[in-house]
Amino acid sequence: MEEELIQIKNAALSLILEAADKKSLEEIKLQFLGRSGKLTLAIKNIAKLPIEKRPEVGRLANEVKKAIEDTIANQELRIKNQESGIKKQKIDVTAPGIKPSIGHLHPMTQVLLDVIDVFKSLGFQVADGPEIETDYYNFEALNIPKYHPSRDTQQTLYLDTRNSKVTPGEVILRTQTSAMQGRIMEKIKPPVRVIVPGKNFRYEQVDASHGFEFWQVEGFLVDKEVRLTDLFGTIDYVLRKLMGEGIKLKFATTNFPFVEPGVDTYIECSVCKGKARLPDGQGCGFCKQMGWSEIMPAGMIHPNVLKAVGYDSQKVTGFAFAIGLSRLVTLRYQMDDLRLLINPDMRILEQF
Ligand code: DAH
Repeated sequence: MEEELIQIKNAALSLILEAADKKSLEEIKLQFLGRSGKLTLAIKNIAKLPIEKRPEVGRLANEVKKAIEDTIANQELRIKNQESGIKKQKIDVTAPGIKPSIGHLHPMTQVLLDVIDVFKSLGFQVADGPEIETDYYNFEALNIPKYHPSRDTQQTLYLDTRNSKVTPGEVILRTQTSAMQGRIMEKIKPPVRVIVPGKNFRYEQVDASHGFEFWQVEGFLVDKEVRLTDLFGTIDYVLRKLMGEGIKLKFATTNFPFVEPGVDTYIECSVCKGKARLPDGQGCGFCKQMGWSEIMPAGMIHPNVLKAVGYDSQKVTGFAFAIGLSRLVTLRYQMDDLRLLINPDMRILEQF
């Protein structure tokens, strides 16, 4: 008898909790508590039990009845609330939507894509290369033998190769994307027109104009009868496309072991407009009071570099250049601190 009561209770409760409207609740009520309902009949049968069992079973029957009644009342309330909630919720289909916030490319990426577009329009291909590089491609193949003094300027980070078969000092983080000159030219014959955007690493103190990791776009072109004037013309065309037709440029000689002659490209400072001073008389900190900013080192590829990749330096010549990508971005947007580009600060990034 007790078992039957428990079964009635379980069956009733699960039906009640599944009921979705008032009508089905009424039906359940009738099915269990009505005059010939399951519980009502069971309660009637208690009278047939031996007298000593009746009080205990009677108490259980009352508990079951109360549980069923309470659950029905709760479910009734829940259904009522749900119905009134749906009625209250009016939908205004003419209300303006919530604008989803859409991200955008980082300013460095935006400028990099512009650079790639300009060079592609001149027939350059885009290549990628390893950030972990060998001493050979980063230095030797670029006419920088061991103990060459220019290595001092390259603050090289060496990889710990103690547990490998690699000669110590042979594997480094590349300090310049120029390292890709050897890798690419070894594989393809002239004519060659390639740019290599990529990250470089140097052991440098981070400040407003230096980072220990920085982006460069290296580029090089090798063909028959390539002259210094072709290099000047290319730099002039590219920088005007990227920075505006009205910019002022100047070239100066410089020294890199892998080019001869070496060329430094300067662009008139976009902050002080070449005056080296600001309107309030203060010296311009952006160009370090020079009035010009160095933007694109370059030069005619040294015959030793061409020889190292198996080219005949009597038959072909070429030029190479590098664009400091963050310099291009800071000059374009007149930002006086490189770190603004590196820190993921949304207040800055959302302005682009
Ligand atoms: N790789 C040089 C550096 O990072 C920059 C450079 C200078 C690249 C002259 C060139 C070049 O291709 O011709 O210091």
